[in-house]
Amino acid sequence: MRELEAWLAQTAEVELEEMSSFFEKRLEGYEDHMAVWEKAYQRFALLLPDRCREVLDLGCGTGLELGEIWKRNPAVSVTGVDLCQAMLGCLAEQYKDKPFCPVCGDYFRYDMGQGRWDAVISFESLHHFFPEKKLTLYEKIYRGLKEDGVFLLGDYIACCDREEELLRRVYLQRRAARPGAGQTTANEENGGESGYVHFDIPLTLEHELELLERAGFSRAEAVDCVEGATMILARRQG
Ligand SMILES: C[S@@+](CC[C@H](N)C(=O)[O-])C[C@H]1O[C@@H](n2cnc3c(N)ncnc32)[C@H](O)[C@@H]1O
Repeated sequence: MRELEAWLAQTAEVELEEMSSFFEKRLEGYEDHMAVWEKAYQRFALLLPDRCREVLDLGCGTGLELGEIWKRNPAVSVTGVDLCQAMLGCLAEQYKDKPFCPVCGDYFRYDMGQGRWDAVISFESLHHFFPEKKLTLYEKIYRGLKEDGVFLLGDYIACCDREEELLRRVYLQRRAARPGAGQTTANEENGGESGYVHFDIPLTLEHELELLERAGFSRAEAVDCVEGATMILARRQG
């Protein structure tokens, strides 16, 4: 917590950046920066049940988790949703030979359909959003999965309530201090259309699992944690 508090103090004057331009600006060097999670990506891929053929990736970025999944099974067909066209372009360029359908857009608005996916996956993307917003997404994921489908989440988890509350408080202060902040309505506070900003507001494991259960998942459990990336497997049916 001390390190986090010190970092927040150091970065107090740094203005929040809009989500997709944040990633676009950092595209060069992005994969090197994420290399600390190499083992986490490998573990994540191993946790995807072998039977999965139709997979939806929320916030797929340049496809680091998909690279590992395709190493194990190149036939897995993936739809990847991401706000950032530049990240998706990089993915498409690297994996031209793989069954991949890119969707440039907001996963909160993406129509996942009903009973369509063997697995919905997401790695290091959902910690940017408030629990109320995540709950509606988790309900949508639940409906979009086949009966025996799974939601596999790899993400940054807050170590305690204090960290969760601190980051949320700082996020709200910084968001309110942004130029033009007064123009957003209350229900856009977590980002309306293209209003998302890049700032981490992770939930504790307890709160994350609670949300998944509220969304209908009969079993949701943390199955591993690698380099700070917690892997949660939620099954539509127990
Ligand atoms: C830290 S990157 C992770 C990318 C990839 N999963 C990986 O592990 O390398 C987060 C990604 O989530 C995307 N993202 C964030 N919010 C999003 C949203 N609401 N809809 C779609 N993509 C989103 C960002 O554009 C970015 O590419």
